Amino acid sequence: MPGAAAMTAERARPVVAIDGPAGAGKSTVSRRVAVRLGYTLVDTGALYRSVALAAKQADASWDDSEAVGRIAADLAERGAIELRPLSDGGVSVWLDARDVSRAIRAQDVGQGASKVSAVPAVRDALLEMQRAAGRDGGVVLEGRDIGSVVFPDAEVKFFLTASVGVRAGRRFDELRGRGEPADREQIEREVKERDERDSSRAAAPLVQPPDAELVDSSELSIEGVVDRMVRRVREVAEAMQRPAGG
Ligand code: DC
Repeated sequence: MPGAAAMTAERARPVVAIDGPAGAGKSTVSRRVAVRLGYTLVDTGALYRSVALAAKQADASWDDSEAVGRIAADLAERGAIELRPLSDGGVSVWLDARDVSRAIRAQDVGQGASKVSAVPAVRDALLEMQRAAGRDGGVVLEGRDIGSVVFPDAEVKFFLTASVGVRAGRRFDELRGRGEPADREQIEREVKERDERDSSRAAAPLVQPPDAELVDSSELSIEGVVDRMVRRVREVAEAMQRPAGG
């Protein structure tokens, strides 16, 4: 099948895109949705975080676009970043055969990820990796530009958001839960800063694709959000199973 078939893939099961700003509950929601559906989870933020960590380890500045672009291209070429499924439905993240699942969650690496993700060469390097991971469907990809850039033809797209106050509160609880120091006001400032940077960058900014379903988790419980998404994906998956015209 030549030409257009490359964009409009024929899959047996849907690609589910879950995009949205930091702290909207994307990781928890995506993991639970993937578990309930028996789909593979692809945490694309973990890829950007891994690039930021690799840059830090190489003593490269996150503001040095050329250096981080080179680092990302090298990691992609060597297949040095790996997402391995865990029994709880989550993924562990491996960088050069070392488990960096914890290291990439540090606050500073999150800020670094936001910076390196604005570099077009970094986005290019990670694009193919993400497309390869989702191509056959039966997959939940969570990120910022899945429905807009990585899989514009995703069968199901959600844009998950929540108010800044609610999102900062969740980050705060998460850090405290891990026994890490956390300052509520500083977190709120960082959430705003990160939103600003993620939405205003030239390369694949955070936008709600027009065909994505908006889900606001400020007032819905996580379970409520998950139920709604699972129901929607099942409807689409069933429709894909029905013979055309039948
Ligand atoms: O979701 P997260 O906090 O793990 O993402 C880390 C950073 O990576 C975030 O600042 C935005 C960026 N990112 C991106 O630009 N595109 C994606 N698809 C996923 C994450």
